[in-house]
Amino acid sequence: MNAINAISRLSPTATKMIRMDHTKVVATFHKYALDASPEEKRALVNSICVDLEIHAQLEEEIFYPAVRAVDKKEIARSVPEHDEMRRLIGAVRAMDASEAAFDETFMTLMREVLNHVAHEETVMLPEAERLLGNERLSELGAQMTRRRVELAAPRAGEIVVNTARAFPGAVVAGAGVLVLGAYRATRALREPRALRR
Ligand SMILES: [Fe+2]
Ligand SMILES: [Fe+2]
Repeated sequence: MNAINAISRLSPTATKMIRMDHTKVVATFHKYALDASPEEKRALVNSICVDLEIHAQLEEEIFYPAVRAVDKKEIARSVPEHDEMRRLIGAVRAMDASEAAFDETFMTLMREVLNHVAHEETVMLPEAERLLGNERLSELGAQMTRRRVELAAPRAGEIVVNTARAFPGAVVAGAGVLVLGAYRATRALREPRALRR
């Protein structure tokens, strides 16, 4: 089996992957405490921001064009919402985590993200599942997994540091596995034989 087939077989469908990404961001948000130290707040926010940036890019490059092909109006609101999300990510990154404005801006970002996620999960994803079908959603999921590896690899160091600071303790091992997995998958894409070992 070559690397492309292996990734296709192991990937969740596009809509399952999108829901999994949403769940991860919401779970990380729930760890944010107003009385945490500025370092802890910064780490959680950085972790969420990287996840959101990669997720939005995967949707825009791969999933939204596929949905647009079957339902034009559904996508019209989504890209401007991603743009607003990126603006708020830029704003919160530029702030000092000890300022009250940091909490306020982060809560505004999360309010926008939760509204956007609610629309995707209650309207867009069910619509995509009705109109695209399982086979197409599996192909899109495989494309998104390959692209995720490309987008995450240059940010692997940043992702490990964010995860280690945001989830001290056991989860650090998980981050190591994630990065190692990304590294192996990238290598496998370049050298199809690497996955056979
Ligand atoms: Fe999404
Ligand atoms: Fe989105």
